[in-house]
Amino acid sequence: MSLIIRPLSPFGAEVIGLDLDDEQALDVSTQQALRAAWVEHGILLFRNALHSEAAHLRLSRVFGEPQPAAVKRINDANNPYLMNLTQRAGDASGETFTLFEVDGQRRTGWLGWHWDQAFTAEIVRGALLRMITPARVDGRTGFIDAAAAHSRLSPAMQQRIEGLEVVYHFTGAQEQNRFGFPSSLRVVERNPQADAALQRYRGEFPPVVHPLVITQHETGRKVLKLSPMHARAILGMEASASDALLHELAEHLVDARHAYFHTWQADDAIVWDNWRSLHSATGVPFDVDRLAQRTTIVGDYKLGRYLDPARNGQPPQRRLDD
Ligand SMILES: [Fe+2]
Repeated sequence: MSLIIRPLSPFGAEVIGLDLDDEQALDVSTQQALRAAWVEHGILLFRNALHSEAAHLRLSRVFGEPQPAAVKRINDANNPYLMNLTQRAGDASGETFTLFEVDGQRRTGWLGWHWDQAFTAEIVRGALLRMITPARVDGRTGFIDAAAAHSRLSPAMQQRIEGLEVVYHFTGAQEQNRFGFPSSLRVVERNPQADAALQRYRGEFPPVVHPLVITQHETGRKVLKLSPMHARAILGMEASASDALLHELAEHLVDARHAYFHTWQADDAIVWDNWRSLHSATGVPFDVDRLAQRTTIVGDYKLGRYLDPARNGQPPQRRLDD
């Protein structure tokens, strides 16, 4: 069976016709076709396709070298390249456990729109998520194309934001994110240890700066490179004007009418381009299990820096999972 790339609506594409259990399936031409499809479509879905850690790692390497998961508490005990994303029914013991209420629904594992590691100077290339135990209720992952979002801006706004830069600072507590987050978001319960842990992480990640617009180098397309999570201000802009612009851009960017939300089945996998797309998680009710594993794909787009110039040139910070 030959490889079929079928677009998803409104974003991404599904790859059909690959037997990823077969160690020989990823020959040179197949790898080239997958990388080209990734550039074109931003995210690639493989349904019921990854049945083992070995297959997961093989597919990851098509898109780049895997990077060891950096947060030991969620590393797989046997393989540092695998990050365990675990929701255990009724378990509130996780270090950063938080039960949110959002749009009237209680959810653990809820995550607002973001690209990974916006609070660090180096931005990884992508990630490949494989579902092991799908949630019996919800547990979807959403994806938005930030290149399409840029193309939907008015020409005047495109001109206005060209060359601007955004300051990011780690915000562990999601309810403190100010732009593009639902106003209904509130915390129902949080692990008492979480505040201390989040404060510690905050100290480990000093503010960084990223461009608001980047160019996808393979295609020349502009990307609205804003992560609503952790965004603080437009660099050098007066506070009220900065707030107004970030609110407007974030609302434009996270418009769910332009998002693809994946409802997971076991052994589904999605690889996302972290330079061009945003993702979010709808979370699950407290009494629902969900287990996924993720590889992170090495890379740095080399456009980020520390806000404090004295820090630039120093060794990179350690990384966190999002
Ligand atoms: Fe993430």
